[in-house]
Amino acid sequence: MNISQDIPLSDAEFALIQKLVFKLVGITLDDSKRSLVKNRLMKRLTFYGMSKYSDYVRIVQFNRDEAAEMVNQITTNETYFFREPPHFEFLKRTAAASKGDTFLRVWSAAASLGAEAYSIAMVLDSIVGALRYEVVGTDINSEVLNIAKAGCYPLPWVDKISDAYKQAYCLKGKNEYERQFLIDLQLQKNVSFSKANLLDKQTHLGVFDIIFLRNVLIYFNDEIKALVIDNILNNLREGGYLIISLTENLRSVANPKLKQVDSSIYQKVML
Ligand SMILES: C[S@@+](CC[C@H](N)C(=O)[O-])C[C@H]1O[C@@H](n2cnc3c(N)ncnc32)[C@H](O)[C@@H]1O
Repeated sequence: MNISQDIPLSDAEFALIQKLVFKLVGITLDDSKRSLVKNRLMKRLTFYGMSKYSDYVRIVQFNRDEAAEMVNQITTNETYFFREPPHFEFLKRTAAASKGDTFLRVWSAAASLGAEAYSIAMVLDSIVGALRYEVVGTDINSEVLNIAKAGCYPLPWVDKISDAYKQAYCLKGKNEYERQFLIDLQLQKNVSFSKANLLDKQTHLGVFDIIFLRNVLIYFNDEIKALVIDNILNNLREGGYLIISLTENLRSVANPKLKQVDSSIYQKVML
């Protein structure tokens, strides 16, 4: 098949894909996502030498690996270092206040390429004293997680990192790597990444002091939002904080366990 050949996506096929993506990851694909879906999945159809999206959907329904691949293609993974700075200031204050022999656990629950998790680690690491910490990053997209695990980013991404953190935690590449930088390996030791679907409970991850759940709720309807928050709260200790994006809200999620302490920051309370 000619790679540049267009493969039309019918209304019925788009509806099938919408249903499948919703079932797999809870993401609501509205009509504005139609051409994105078509273009991204066309590569998979071309890979299989197929000419109909309905045939591709049949593979996804029966093959877990292809379902994961479809999810990789569909998710939106925009992220950058120190996105929404007030949250990192809050993190710094909270961590500094809990200094001592505390072991602080922070979860970046839709970690994407890892910029959020490493930003968290830089803040925690820079707090002098006996603070020990662990940052766990999870995402549904295995491709972005591989990049996160490597900790290697295009050089322009460093611009969002302050000079002090840059000097302490970023290593500029040399020769063929001169357009990239690497997150300091010592810092990387405190950060781990694994695959997790927010639609499922993540008991194995244990309990966290702070959970970052930013710029992902926007893809969910109210019912899925409530489910995700309910799941996440099982991993948050009482008194711990849940941080969502400054552009998101939990108005539709009436969860009595959450008390709002700032515009996008919630504390888990004892009932
Ligand atoms: C826009 S990125 C946000 C990254 C980061 N939190 C930030 O604010 O910069 C949203 C991420 O959510 C992930 N995601 C979407 N649905 C998910 C689900 N059901 N379970 C886990 N991750 C999901 C996507 O793969 C994507 O990497």
